[in-house]
Amino acid sequence: MGITISQLRARQVLDSRGNPTIEVDATLAGGASGRALVPSGASTGSHEAIELRDGGTRWMGKGVQGAVASVHGALSDAVVGQEFPSQVELDAALVAADGTEDRGRLGANAILGVSLAAAHATAAQEGIPLWQLVQRLAGADEVWMPVPMLNVINGGEHANNALDVQEFMIMPHGLSDFSAALEAAVATYHTLRGLIDAQGMSTAVGDEGGFAPEVASTTHALDLLVEAITRAGFEPGREVAIALDVAATELHDGMTYALAGERRSLGAEALVDWYAELVDAYPIVSIEDGMAEDDWDGWVQLTERIGSRVQVVGDDLFVTNVGRLERGIEHAAATAILIKPNQVGTLSETLAAMSRAAGAQMASIVSHRSGETEDATIADLAVGTGCGQIKTGAPCRSDRVAKYNQLLRIEQQLGDAARLAVPFADTVESHA
Ligand code: PGA
Ligand code: ZN
Repeated sequence: MGITISQLRARQVLDSRGNPTIEVDATLAGGASGRALVPSGASTGSHEAIELRDGGTRWMGKGVQGAVASVHGALSDAVVGQEFPSQVELDAALVAADGTEDRGRLGANAILGVSLAAAHATAAQEGIPLWQLVQRLAGADEVWMPVPMLNVINGGEHANNALDVQEFMIMPHGLSDFSAALEAAVATYHTLRGLIDAQGMSTAVGDEGGFAPEVASTTHALDLLVEAITRAGFEPGREVAIALDVAATELHDGMTYALAGERRSLGAEALVDWYAELVDAYPIVSIEDGMAEDDWDGWVQLTERIGSRVQVVGDDLFVTNVGRLERGIEHAAATAILIKPNQVGTLSETLAAMSRAAGAQMASIVSHRSGETEDATIADLAVGTGCGQIKTGAPCRSDRVAKYNQLLRIEQQLGDAARLAVPFADTVESHA
Protein backbone atom coordinates (compact mmCIF):
# COMPACT_ATOMS: atom_id res chain seq x y z
CA MET A 1 0.00 0.00 0.00
CA GLY A 2 1.50 3.32 -1.07
CA ILE A 3 1.35 6.69 0.63
CA THR A 4 -0.91 9.38 -0.79
CA ILE A 5 -1.13 12.58 1.21
CA SER A 6 -4.36 14.49 0.65
CA GLN A 7 -3.57 17.45 2.88
CA LEU A 8 -0.75 19.01 4.90
CA ARG A 9 -1.55 21.56 7.60
CA ALA A 10 1.24 23.23 9.51
CA ARG A 11 1.25 25.78 12.31
CA GLN A 12 3.60 27.57 14.64
CA VAL A 13 3.52 26.24 18.21
CA LEU A 14 5.93 26.54 21.16
CA ASP A 15 8.77 24.31 22.30
CA SER A 16 9.93 23.56 25.85
CA ARG A 17 12.07 26.71 25.99
CA GLY A 18 9.21 28.95 24.92
CA ASN A 19 10.52 29.33 21.39
CA PRO A 20 8.39 28.87 18.29
CA THR A 21 8.57 25.58 16.45
CA ILE A 22 6.59 23.88 13.72
CA GLU A 23 3.83 21.28 14.02
CA VAL A 24 2.56 19.43 10.95
CA ASP A 25 -0.61 17.38 10.43
CA ALA A 26 -0.62 15.03 7.45
CA THR A 27 -3.88 13.52 6.23
CA LEU A 28 -3.80 10.57 3.84
CA ALA A 29 -6.22 9.89 0.99
CA GLY A 30 -7.66 7.01 3.04
CA GLY A 31 -8.53 9.43 5.85
CA ALA A 32 -5.84 8.48 8.39
CA SER A 33 -3.82 11.31 9.85
CA GLY A 34 -0.60 11.84 11.76
CA ARG A 35 1.05 14.70 13.61
CA ALA A 36 4.66 15.62 14.31
CA LEU A 37 6.35 18.48 16.18
CA VAL A 38 9.96 19.41 15.49
CA PRO A 39 12.58 19.99 18.22
CA SER A 40 15.43 22.50 18.25
CA GLY A 41 19.01 22.52 19.56
CA ALA A 42 21.06 25.13 21.47
CA SER A 43 24.55 23.70 21.02
CA THR A 44 23.90 23.00 17.36
CA GLY A 45 26.65 21.72 15.10
CA SER A 46 27.59 24.02 12.25
CA HIS A 47 27.16 21.16 9.77
CA GLU A 48 23.54 20.51 10.70
CA ALA A 49 20.75 21.00 8.18
CA ILE A 50 19.26 24.48 8.38
CA GLU A 51 16.31 25.21 10.64
CA LEU A 52 14.36 28.02 8.96
CA ARG A 53 13.66 30.97 11.30
CA ASP A 54 11.92 34.20 10.31
CA GLY A 55 14.24 36.76 11.91
CA GLY A 56 12.82 40.27 12.32
CA THR A 57 11.18 41.57 15.45
CA ARG A 58 8.28 39.21 16.05
CA TRP A 59 8.79 36.20 18.36
CA MET A 60 12.28 37.51 19.11
CA GLY A 61 13.27 36.67 15.54
CA LYS A 62 12.61 32.96 16.12
CA GLY A 63 9.27 32.65 14.35
CA VAL A 64 8.76 29.75 11.95
CA GLN A 65 6.05 31.19 9.69
CA GLY A 66 8.43 30.79 6.75
CA ALA A 67 8.70 27.07 7.48
CA VAL A 68 4.90 26.89 7.82
CA ALA A 69 4.65 28.56 4.40
CA SER A 70 7.09 25.96 3.00
CA VAL A 71 4.72 23.20 4.08
CA HIS A 72 1.61 24.87 2.66
CA GLY A 73 3.44 25.92 -0.52
CA ALA A 74 6.38 24.09 -2.09
CA LEU A 75 6.23 20.89 -0.01
CA SER A 76 2.47 20.46 -0.55
CA ASP A 77 2.97 21.12 -4.27
CA ALA A 78 5.63 18.42 -4.37
CA VAL A 79 3.79 15.63 -2.59
CA VAL A 80 0.05 16.20 -2.08
CA GLY A 81 -2.12 14.02 -4.31
CA GLN A 82 0.76 11.85 -5.56
CA GLU A 83 1.12 8.21 -4.61
CA PHE A 84 4.55 7.24 -3.29
CA PRO A 85 5.50 3.57 -2.98
CA SER A 86 7.00 4.14 0.47
CA GLN A 87 8.45 6.66 2.92
CA VAL A 88 11.77 6.56 1.04
CA GLU A 89 10.33 7.99 -2.18
CA LEU A 90 8.18 10.47 -0.28
CA ASP A 91 11.23 11.76 1.61
CA ALA A 92 13.24 11.95 -1.61
CA ALA A 93 10.52 14.15 -3.12
CA LEU A 94 10.62 16.47 -0.09
CA VAL A 95 14.39 16.77 -0.34
CA ALA A 96 14.21 17.37 -4.09
CA ALA A 97 11.61 20.12 -3.62
CA ASP A 98 14.10 21.97 -1.42
CA GLY A 99 16.96 21.33 -3.81
CA THR A 100 19.77 22.53 -1.52
CA GLU A 101 22.41 20.52 0.31
CA ASP A 102 21.67 22.13 3.70
CA ARG A 103 17.85 22.26 3.35
CA GLY A 104 18.09 26.01 3.78
CA ARG A 105 15.50 27.01 1.15
CA LEU A 106 12.40 25.32 2.60
CA GLY A 107 13.90 24.50 6.00
CA ALA A 108 14.88 21.16 7.54
CA ASN A 109 12.29 21.88 10.24
CA ALA A 110 9.50 22.09 7.63
CA ILE A 111 10.75 18.98 5.80
CA LEU A 112 11.11 16.89 8.98
CA GLY A 113 7.65 17.91 10.17
CA VAL A 114 6.14 16.55 6.93
CA SER A 115 8.31 13.42 6.87
CA LEU A 116 7.45 12.39 10.45
CA ALA A 117 3.77 13.39 10.23
CA ALA A 118 3.48 11.22 7.10
CA ALA A 119 5.08 8.29 8.94
CA HIS A 120 2.61 8.66 11.82
CA ALA A 121 -0.26 8.81 9.32
CA THR A 122 0.99 5.70 7.50
CA ALA A 123 1.20 3.74 10.75
CA ALA A 124 -2.33 4.90 11.63
CA GLN A 125 -3.60 3.88 8.19
CA GLU A 126 -2.12 0.42 8.61
CA GLY A 127 -3.33 0.15 12.19
CA ILE A 128 0.16 -0.55 13.54
CA PRO A 129 2.25 1.27 16.16
CA LEU A 130 4.90 3.60 14.76
CA TRP A 131 7.77 1.47 16.05
CA GLN A 132 6.51 -1.38 13.89
CA LEU A 133 6.53 0.80 10.78
CA VAL A 134 10.04 1.95 11.69
CA GLN A 135 11.12 -1.67 12.12
CA ARG A 136 9.90 -2.44 8.61
CA LEU A 137 11.50 0.64 7.06
CA ALA A 138 14.77 -0.10 8.86
CA GLY A 139 14.67 -3.78 7.94
CA ALA A 140 15.45 -4.60 11.57
CA ASP A 141 15.22 -8.31 12.49
CA GLU A 142 14.66 -7.61 16.15
CA VAL A 143 13.37 -4.79 18.28
CA TRP A 144 14.99 -3.89 21.60
CA MET A 145 13.97 -1.58 24.39
CA PRO A 146 16.72 1.06 24.51
CA VAL A 147 18.85 1.72 27.57
CA PRO A 148 18.09 5.33 28.50
CA MET A 149 20.80 7.95 29.00
CA LEU A 150 19.39 10.51 31.42
CA ASN A 151 21.02 13.91 31.66
CA VAL A 152 20.78 14.66 35.38
CA ILE A 153 23.34 17.45 35.77
CA ASN A 154 23.28 20.21 33.17
CA GLY A 155 26.12 22.58 32.31
CA GLY A 156 27.55 24.22 29.20
CA GLU A 157 25.04 25.96 26.95
CA HIS A 158 22.13 24.32 28.78
CA ALA A 159 22.64 26.05 32.12
CA ASN A 160 24.13 29.24 33.51
CA ASN A 161 26.43 27.54 36.03
CA ALA A 162 30.22 27.22 35.62
CA LEU A 163 30.29 23.59 34.46
CA ASP A 164 32.25 23.09 31.23
CA VAL A 165 30.77 19.68 30.45
CA GLN A 166 27.28 20.12 29.03
CA GLU A 167 25.70 16.87 30.20
CA PHE A 168 26.33 14.43 33.05
CA MET A 169 24.13 11.44 32.35
CA ILE A 170 23.26 8.28 34.21
CA MET A 171 22.87 5.10 32.23
CA PRO A 172 21.01 2.25 33.99
CA HIS A 173 22.33 -0.44 31.66
CA GLY A 174 22.63 -3.31 34.13
CA LEU A 175 18.94 -3.74 35.00
CA SER A 176 16.58 -6.52 33.92
CA ASP A 177 14.14 -4.54 31.80
CA PHE A 178 13.25 -1.01 30.72
CA SER A 179 10.88 -0.34 33.63
CA ALA A 180 13.51 -1.43 36.12
CA ALA A 181 16.11 0.73 34.37
CA LEU A 182 13.81 3.75 34.52
CA GLU A 183 13.03 3.07 38.17
CA ALA A 184 16.76 2.95 38.99
CA ALA A 185 17.27 6.23 37.13
CA VAL A 186 14.39 7.89 38.95
CA ALA A 187 15.69 6.71 42.33
CA THR A 188 19.15 8.03 41.48
CA TYR A 189 17.71 11.34 40.26
CA HIS A 190 15.73 11.97 43.44
CA THR A 191 18.67 10.89 45.62
CA LEU A 192 20.87 13.32 43.68
CA ARG A 193 18.41 16.12 44.40
CA GLY A 194 18.78 15.40 48.11
CA LEU A 195 22.58 15.45 47.93
CA ILE A 196 22.65 18.73 46.01
CA ASP A 197 20.20 20.24 48.47
CA ALA A 198 22.26 19.01 51.44
CA GLN A 199 25.34 20.72 50.01
CA GLY A 200 23.44 24.01 49.98
CA MET A 201 23.21 24.29 46.20
CA SER A 202 20.22 25.07 44.02
CA THR A 203 18.04 22.19 42.85
CA ALA A 204 16.62 24.25 39.97
CA VAL A 205 16.80 22.43 36.65
CA GLY A 206 18.28 23.20 33.22
CA ASP A 207 16.82 22.84 29.74
CA GLU A 208 16.81 19.03 29.77
CA GLY A 209 15.38 18.62 33.28
CA GLY A 210 18.71 17.87 34.96
CA PHE A 211 19.88 19.87 37.96
CA ALA A 212 22.13 22.84 37.25
CA PRO A 213 23.94 23.36 40.57
CA GLU A 214 26.94 25.63 41.08
CA VAL A 215 29.30 22.70 41.57
CA ALA A 216 32.99 23.50 41.80
CA SER A 217 34.30 21.25 39.05
CA THR A 218 33.75 18.30 36.74
CA THR A 219 34.97 15.86 39.39
CA HIS A 220 32.63 17.39 41.97
CA ALA A 221 29.71 16.65 39.63
CA LEU A 222 31.01 13.10 39.03
CA ASP A 223 31.43 12.51 42.77
CA LEU A 224 27.83 13.58 43.30
CA LEU A 225 26.66 11.10 40.66
CA VAL A 226 28.60 8.17 42.12
CA GLU A 227 27.26 8.95 45.58
CA ALA A 228 23.70 9.30 44.29
CA ILE A 229 23.89 5.95 42.46
CA THR A 230 25.31 4.23 45.54
CA ARG A 231 22.87 5.76 48.02
CA ALA A 232 19.97 4.87 45.72
CA GLY A 233 21.05 1.25 46.19
CA PHE A 234 22.80 0.54 42.89
CA GLU A 235 26.31 -0.46 42.01
CA PRO A 236 28.05 2.31 40.05
CA GLY A 237 29.33 1.00 36.74
CA ARG A 238 27.69 -2.40 36.88
CA GLU A 239 24.04 -1.39 37.32
CA VAL A 240 24.02 2.36 36.76
CA ALA A 241 26.93 3.91 34.90
CA ILE A 242 27.88 7.45 33.90
CA ALA A 243 27.92 9.00 30.41
CA LEU A 244 29.12 12.48 29.45
CA ASP A 245 28.33 14.86 26.62
CA VAL A 246 31.11 17.42 26.67
CA ALA A 247 29.80 19.35 23.61
CA ALA A 248 33.45 20.35 23.12
CA THR A 249 32.73 22.40 20.00
CA GLU A 250 31.41 25.03 22.41
CA LEU A 251 34.77 25.05 24.26
CA HIS A 252 37.00 25.17 21.18
CA ASP A 253 38.41 28.42 19.80
CA GLY A 254 40.09 26.79 16.80
CA MET A 255 43.33 26.10 18.69
CA THR A 256 42.65 25.06 22.27
CA TYR A 257 39.84 23.92 24.49
CA ALA A 258 38.98 26.48 27.15
CA LEU A 259 37.75 24.78 30.31
CA ALA A 260 36.67 27.96 32.07
CA GLY A 261 35.15 26.15 35.05
CA GLU A 262 38.40 24.20 35.58
CA ARG A 263 40.39 27.41 34.99
CA ARG A 264 42.59 25.84 32.34
CA SER A 265 42.97 25.69 28.62
CA LEU A 266 44.07 22.45 26.96
CA GLY A 267 45.32 21.33 23.55
CA ALA A 268 43.73 18.23 21.99
CA GLU A 269 46.35 15.86 23.39
CA ALA A 270 46.09 17.20 26.94
CA LEU A 271 42.31 17.05 26.70
CA VAL A 272 42.50 13.37 25.71
CA ASP A 273 44.78 12.81 28.74
CA TRP A 274 42.19 14.44 30.96
CA TYR A 275 39.43 12.17 29.62
CA ALA A 276 41.64 9.12 30.17
CA GLU A 277 42.12 10.21 33.81
CA LEU A 278 38.37 10.65 34.28
CA VAL A 279 37.68 7.23 32.75
CA ASP A 280 40.26 5.67 35.11
CA ALA A 281 38.71 7.30 38.15
CA TYR A 282 34.96 7.07 37.46
CA PRO A 283 32.49 4.48 36.09
CA ILE A 284 32.14 6.31 32.76
CA VAL A 285 30.93 4.18 29.84
CA SER A 286 30.35 6.79 27.13
CA ILE A 287 31.75 10.20 26.12
CA GLU A 288 29.97 12.27 23.47
CA ASP A 289 31.54 15.16 21.58
CA GLY A 290 34.76 14.96 23.54
CA MET A 291 36.39 16.90 20.72
CA ALA A 292 35.20 19.77 18.50
CA GLU A 293 33.18 19.17 15.34
CA ASP A 294 36.08 19.71 12.92
CA ASP A 295 38.99 18.50 15.07
CA TRP A 296 39.25 15.20 13.17
CA ASP A 297 42.80 14.56 14.42
CA GLY A 298 41.66 15.04 17.99
CA TRP A 299 38.81 12.57 17.45
CA VAL A 300 41.17 9.94 16.07
CA GLN A 301 43.49 10.42 19.08
CA LEU A 302 40.59 10.15 21.50
CA THR A 303 39.25 6.97 19.90
CA GLU A 304 42.70 5.38 19.77
CA ARG A 305 43.29 6.19 23.41
CA ILE A 306 40.01 5.26 25.10
CA GLY A 307 37.75 3.88 22.35
CA SER A 308 38.17 0.29 23.52
CA ARG A 309 37.13 1.18 27.07
CA VAL A 310 34.29 3.65 26.56
CA GLN A 311 31.89 4.48 23.79
CA VAL A 312 33.16 7.51 21.83
CA VAL A 313 30.08 9.27 20.41
CA GLY A 314 29.97 11.80 17.57
CA ASP A 315 27.11 14.30 17.68
CA ASP A 316 28.22 17.67 16.24
CA LEU A 317 30.94 15.65 14.48
CA PHE A 318 28.51 13.57 12.39
CA VAL A 319 25.23 15.57 12.55
CA THR A 320 23.36 12.40 11.49
CA ASN A 321 24.90 12.89 8.04
CA VAL A 322 26.01 9.82 6.09
CA GLY A 323 28.78 11.75 4.33
CA ARG A 324 30.40 12.87 7.58
CA LEU A 325 29.82 9.44 9.09
CA GLU A 326 31.65 7.88 6.13
CA ARG A 327 34.68 10.01 6.89
CA GLY A 328 34.49 9.05 10.54
CA ILE A 329 34.37 5.35 9.68
CA GLU A 330 37.33 5.68 7.34
CA HIS A 331 39.49 7.35 10.00
CA ALA A 332 38.13 5.43 13.02
CA ALA A 333 37.21 8.79 14.57
CA ALA A 334 34.46 7.46 16.88
CA THR A 335 32.71 4.26 17.92
CA ALA A 336 29.12 5.57 17.97
CA ILE A 337 26.89 8.17 16.34
CA LEU A 338 24.24 10.31 17.97
CA ILE A 339 21.06 10.32 15.90
CA LYS A 340 18.94 13.48 15.74
CA PRO A 341 16.37 13.47 12.93
CA ASN A 342 16.27 17.27 12.75
CA GLN A 343 20.00 17.44 12.02
CA VAL A 344 19.26 15.90 8.63
CA GLY A 345 15.58 16.50 7.87
CA THR A 346 13.87 13.23 6.94
CA LEU A 347 13.07 9.89 8.54
CA SER A 348 14.60 7.96 5.62
CA GLU A 349 17.94 9.74 5.86
CA THR A 350 17.94 9.21 9.62
CA LEU A 351 17.45 5.48 9.08
CA ALA A 352 20.13 5.46 6.38
CA ALA A 353 22.67 6.95 8.80
CA MET A 354 21.77 4.33 11.43
CA SER A 355 22.05 1.54 8.91
CA ARG A 356 25.47 2.74 7.70
CA ALA A 357 26.68 2.94 11.30
CA ALA A 358 25.48 -0.60 12.03
CA GLY A 359 27.28 -1.83 8.92
CA ALA A 360 30.53 -0.45 10.37
CA GLN A 361 29.87 -1.95 13.83
CA MET A 362 29.19 1.50 15.23
CA ALA A 363 26.43 2.03 17.77
CA SER A 364 23.57 4.49 17.19
CA ILE A 365 22.02 6.49 20.02
CA VAL A 366 18.68 8.11 19.24
CA SER A 367 18.50 11.57 20.80
CA HIS A 368 16.21 14.44 21.71
CA ARG A 369 17.23 18.13 21.40
CA SER A 370 17.56 20.59 24.26
CA GLY A 371 14.46 22.39 22.92
CA GLU A 372 11.78 19.69 22.81
CA THR A 373 8.04 19.18 22.63
CA GLU A 374 5.46 16.58 23.62
CA ASP A 375 6.28 14.70 20.40
CA ALA A 376 7.64 11.25 21.31
CA THR A 377 8.53 9.93 17.85
CA ILE A 378 12.13 9.22 18.90
CA ALA A 379 10.93 6.57 21.37
CA ASP A 380 9.43 4.56 18.52
CA LEU A 381 12.52 5.24 16.41
CA ALA A 382 14.79 3.76 19.07
CA VAL A 383 12.66 0.65 19.56
CA GLY A 384 11.89 -0.01 15.89
CA THR A 385 15.52 0.18 14.80
CA GLY A 386 16.64 -1.88 17.78
CA CYS A 387 19.59 0.48 18.19
CA GLY A 388 19.71 -0.11 21.95
CA GLN A 389 20.24 3.39 23.36
CA ILE A 390 18.18 6.58 23.73
CA LYS A 391 19.21 9.91 25.21
CA THR A 392 16.23 12.01 26.15
CA GLY A 393 16.92 13.99 29.29
CA ALA A 394 16.23 13.72 32.99
CA PRO A 395 13.09 11.98 34.28
CA CYS A 396 11.65 15.47 34.80
CA ARG A 397 9.65 17.94 32.66
CA SER A 398 6.89 16.64 30.39
CA ASP A 399 8.89 17.28 27.20
CA ARG A 400 11.47 14.72 28.44
CA VAL A 401 9.11 12.36 30.27
CA ALA A 402 6.88 12.11 27.17
CA LYS A 403 9.53 9.90 25.57
CA TYR A 404 9.99 7.69 28.63
CA ASN A 405 6.22 7.33 28.95
CA GLN A 406 5.94 6.29 25.30
CA LEU A 407 8.66 3.69 25.95
CA LEU A 408 6.64 2.35 28.89
CA ARG A 409 3.61 2.01 26.57
CA ILE A 410 5.70 0.19 23.98
CA GLU A 411 7.18 -2.08 26.65
CA GLN A 412 3.65 -3.09 27.61
CA GLN A 413 2.65 -3.64 23.96
CA LEU A 414 5.69 -5.85 23.42
CA GLY A 415 5.03 -7.95 26.52
CA ASP A 416 7.50 -10.83 26.72
CA ALA A 417 9.32 -9.55 23.63
CA ALA A 418 10.31 -6.32 25.45
CA ARG A 419 13.95 -7.07 26.11
CA LEU A 420 16.28 -4.36 27.35
CA ALA A 421 19.28 -3.89 25.07
CA VAL A 422 22.78 -4.66 26.35
CA PRO A 423 25.01 -2.03 24.77
CA PHE A 424 28.79 -2.37 25.06
CA ALA A 425 28.58 -5.25 27.52
CA ASP A 426 32.24 -5.96 26.81
CA THR A 427 33.64 -2.48 27.49
CA VAL A 428 31.73 -1.90 30.71
CA GLU A 429 33.13 -5.09 32.23
CA SER A 430 36.25 -3.19 33.18
CA HIS A 431 34.20 -0.93 35.44
CA ALA A 432 32.38 -3.68 37.28
P1 PGA B 1 21.36 20.49 21.70
O1 PGA B 1 22.08 19.60 22.79
O2 PGA B 1 20.05 19.89 21.41
O3 PGA B 1 21.31 21.83 22.37
O4 PGA B 1 22.27 20.48 20.49
C1 PGA B 1 22.01 18.23 22.85
C2 PGA B 1 23.32 17.59 22.54
O5 PGA B 1 24.35 18.29 22.36
O6 PGA B 1 23.40 16.37 22.47
ZN1 ZN C 1 25.63 16.37 22.07
